[in-house]
Amino acid sequence: MLNKRAKVHSLLSMFMVLLVLNFSLSQVDELKLLLSFKSSINDPSGFLSNWNSSTPLCLWHGITCNKFSKVKIIQLTNKNISRAILSSIFHLPKIESIDLSTNNLFGEIPYDMAFSMSLQYLNLNQNYLTDTVPNCSTSLEILDLSANSLSGKIPPQIGVECSNLKELDLGGNYLVGRIPSSISNISSLQALTLAGNKLIGQIPRELSKLKSMKWIYFGYNHLSGEIPQELVDLVSLNHLDLVYNNLNGQIPSSLGNLTNLQYLFLYRNKLTGLLPRSIFGLKKLVELDLSENYLLGEIPELIIELRSLQVLHLYSNNFIGKIPNALAYLPYIQVVSFYSNSLTEEIPSSICNTSSIEVLDLFDNNLSGIIPPCLGNFSKGLSILDLEMNSFHGTIPETFGEDCGLRNLNLNGNKLEGSLPRSLANCKNLEMMDIGDNKLNGAFPYWLDTLSKLQVLVLRSNKLRGILQSSKTIHPFPKLRILDLANNEFTGPMPKGIIKNMKAMMNLGEQHSSLQYMQGRYYSYHVNLTVKGFYIKLHILTTFTSIDLSNNNFHGEIPNVIGKLSLLRGLNLSHNSLSGHIPMSMGNLANLEWLDLSSNQLTGQIPDQLKDMTFLAFLNLSYNQLTGPIPQGKQFNTFENGSYEGNLALCGLPLSKSCKNDGRKQSSPSFLKEANDSETEINFGWKVVLMGYGCGIIFGVVIGYVTFRNGEPKWFVTLYGVKYHRKGRRCSRN
Ligand SMILES: *[C@@H]1O[C@H](CO)[C@@H](O)[C@H](O)[C@H]1NC(C)=O
Ligand SMILES: *[C@@H]1O[C@H](CO)[C@@H](O)[C@H](O)[C@H]1NC(C)=O
Ligand SMILES: *[C@@H]1O[C@H](CO)[C@@H](O)[C@H](O)[C@H]1NC(C)=O
Ligand SMILES: *[C@@H]1O[C@H](CO)[C@@H](O)[C@H](O)[C@H]1NC(C)=O
Ligand SMILES: *[C@@H]1O[C@H](CO)[C@@H](O)[C@H](O)[C@H]1NC(C)=O
Ligand SMILES: *[C@@H]1O[C@H](CO)[C@@H](O)[C@H](O)[C@H]1NC(C)=O
Ligand SMILES: *[C@@H]1O[C@H](CO)[C@@H](O)[C@H](O)[C@H]1NC(C)=O
Ligand SMILES: *[C@@H]1O[C@H](CO)[C@@H](O)[C@H](O)[C@H]1NC(C)=O
Ligand SMILES: *[C@@H]1O[C@H](CO)[C@@H](O)[C@H](O)[C@H]1NC(C)=O
Ligand SMILES: *[C@@H]1O[C@H](CO)[C@@H](O)[C@H](O)[C@H]1NC(C)=O
Ligand SMILES: *[C@@H]1O[C@H](CO)[C@@H](O)[C@H](O)[C@H]1NC(C)=O
Ligand SMILES: *[C@@H]1O[C@H](CO)[C@@H](O)[C@H](O)[C@H]1NC(C)=O
Repeated sequence: MLNKRAKVHSLLSMFMVLLVLNFSLSQVDELKLLLSFKSSINDPSGFLSNWNSSTPLCLWHGITCNKFSKVKIIQLTNKNISRAILSSIFHLPKIESIDLSTNNLFGEIPYDMAFSMSLQYLNLNQNYLTDTVPNCSTSLEILDLSANSLSGKIPPQIGVECSNLKELDLGGNYLVGRIPSSISNISSLQALTLAGNKLIGQIPRELSKLKSMKWIYFGYNHLSGEIPQELVDLVSLNHLDLVYNNLNGQIPSSLGNLTNLQYLFLYRNKLTGLLPRSIFGLKKLVELDLSENYLLGEIPELIIELRSLQVLHLYSNNFIGKIPNALAYLPYIQVVSFYSNSLTEEIPSSICNTSSIEVLDLFDNNLSGIIPPCLGNFSKGLSILDLEMNSFHGTIPETFGEDCGLRNLNLNGNKLEGSLPRSLANCKNLEMMDIGDNKLNGAFPYWLDTLSKLQVLVLRSNKLRGILQSSKTIHPFPKLRILDLANNEFTGPMPKGIIKNMKAMMNLGEQHSSLQYMQGRYYSYHVNLTVKGFYIKLHILTTFTSIDLSNNNFHGEIPNVIGKLSLLRGLNLSHNSLSGHIPMSMGNLANLEWLDLSSNQLTGQIPDQLKDMTFLAFLNLSYNQLTGPIPQGKQFNTFENGSYEGNLALCGLPLSKSCKNDGRKQSSPSFLKEANDSETEINFGWKVVLMGYGCGIIFGVVIGYVTFRNGEPKWFVTLYGVKYHRKGRRCSRN
């Protein structure tokens, strides 16, 4: 049956209608109703072709009978069910359960709902239904209208009409006004989701009457006032989620009496004061997230009491003092995120006793001392180690072992010295390494080029020196797409051998269609880069690519092979000693948004091919020895004279100096030589000339990088997890 269902799903993979009926086969009426239902909807795929009286009902496509030959589940593809058809479904007698989630249902929710007196379960989640919250029948136990377009207030009569509800989910709509206190009359209520609306006012104290309540999700609203002390009466409470509201005051210490609480999410509010000690009595707590508030004081050693804790998020508060030793005694702790606080002193080496830990994020604190050597090899489960923006000194531990499981090592903005340890090459899963803004010396870590997953390598602002070489590997840095070596003392020619093999920056026909951020479940990758002249923090899109080699001592010519990196968004080679011509092949960098070649010794003309960089929004060719006319048209009309200052003999707009003879010599001998350079194998034929260029596109793309604060909104992640969980429970009940 599972197979059949899976097949059906993949065949039609679009939207499903899932009806759960419970009636006897002898009831011909039911059969007639289903046939008339069939006749009223479109079925271009022929999915319903065997829905006829000569085929036994239990063999109908999408219908599953239970062992008593009663119809249990009906699955139909939805081709746009209208409100009228929806009503007709509600009239099927003896129907207990309707699941029409994730369809294209539109229009107003039919009031007929109320007449279907046998209905216990109605799920219309993820449709486009409008109007206000409808009234419901007293038989209804589970009502899920989440992720629709309902507006208006939650009607107070809900407390009377829906008196037998166990679960009410109105999340993800446009509901306004206050939470009616009459909801507290639905004494059987176990789960109440109002998240993702525009609700205001305080959380009604009366809710404390709901003794069966297990799950409260009020996040992403505009609720204000204090968290009511009275919630302590909700003795069964398991999830309390009040995130992204304007709640203020202290965390009530009475919450510590909710001994069944497993998930406490209060992040992004305006809570103040110390952590109430009572919270550490919550022995069953699995996840605690109090991030992005104004909480004060130390993180007490008392957390040792939270024996079940797996996820501890206290980031972006005003916590001071030491990292508690007690972390070492939490047997299941997986995620510790304390970033953006004012924690001081050393990381206790006891942290290495937390062998279950996966994410340790201490970014942006005032931690000092050395990085405990054991951090390199204490846990193969550790995947994220973020110690950025602290005051660690000493060397990076040499202890990264064979089974190093790190995916991100971020030590940016400390005072680390010495060279990069070779043992880092053991970390085969590394996707990102940022050791910028330290005092490292030594050579370029070419032995990292075999790391097949490394996407981001930032070593900017250190004292690294020597020439850039690669190991003997055929495809060095196969996944690398962000390389920042700015502000070091590297020398020698630009690394042609590396550049020509950086596959991740080349268009090899693979399509990266959707915009996605590099992130894990509890961590989103971020990096500071110079983008269009601004040093900014970015959450990393999986399509983002840039190379910054600025402010080193590279000399020689810019290699033609640079033109192969057609997915490159930004290239900064400024403040080096590069000479020779700007290669024509650069015109192939069709995705380039910023190009800085300033403060070098480049000579010759600006190749007209650069006009093919239709996304180019920032160009700096200043302080070189360029000559001849500036290309005109397309993007070049948008650059001002600051892009060209300090050159020998450039002419034409936007400079005031006009060109004497307007004829550009396209076929000057040096360019010919370049085009025939067989080593580059650049085929100018595949160059795609994008039409359409302009500020709209450029700004759109840039805003995409910077506005995203913390990866995917947590709300979706949280709610989705819950939905999934609850679905599972429902099925097992049947
Ligand atoms: C009924 O469905 C069966 C199975 O698909 C099909 O073979 C038969 O032709 C159908 N009969 C009618 C009258 O459509
Ligand atoms: C469903 O109907 C609406 C309104 O007529 C229309 O906008 C929409 O495109 C239709 N969707 C599908 C999948 O046919
Ligand atoms: C349903 O609600 C509407 C509007 O709130 C109301 O006019 C109507 O009387 C209600 N119907 C029932 C059966 O309660
Ligand atoms: C419903 O709740 C309100 C507010 O809590 C209360 O005033 C009212 O008496 C309750 N009604 C019933 C029928 O319990
Ligand atoms: C919480 O529990 C403690 C100890 O069991 C008790 O003394 C206290 O009165 C309770 N607080 C509330 C608000 O119920
Ligand atoms: C860490 O664990 C080891 C062995 O399990 C134990 O001897 C040591 O005392 C622990 N250290 C701390 C600081 O908890
Ligand atoms: C960090 O610590 C240093 C000395 O340990 C102190 O001078 C500085 O003010 C602290 N910074 C913050 C933001 O607490
Ligand atoms: C970690 O490395 C150190 C030094 O190489 C070694 O003494 C220690 O046994 C290693 N620990 C583990 C858990 O592998
Ligand atoms: C290129 O790098 C230099 C020095 O690191 C920096 O000043 C400049 O702003 C960068 N250019 C761009 C376009 O980001
Ligand atoms: C990264 O950039 C942000 C601004 O976007 C800045 O506040 C922060 O200090 C920068 N980080 C470092 C290490 O300079
Ligand atoms: C171009 O770069 C030079 C130095 O390399 C700098 O002085 C100038 O301000 C830059 N121009 C623009 C428009 O950013
Ligand atoms: C650059 O442009 C400004 C105004 O746009 C003008 O005042 C200045 O003279 C120009 N400089 C050169 C070198 O053309």
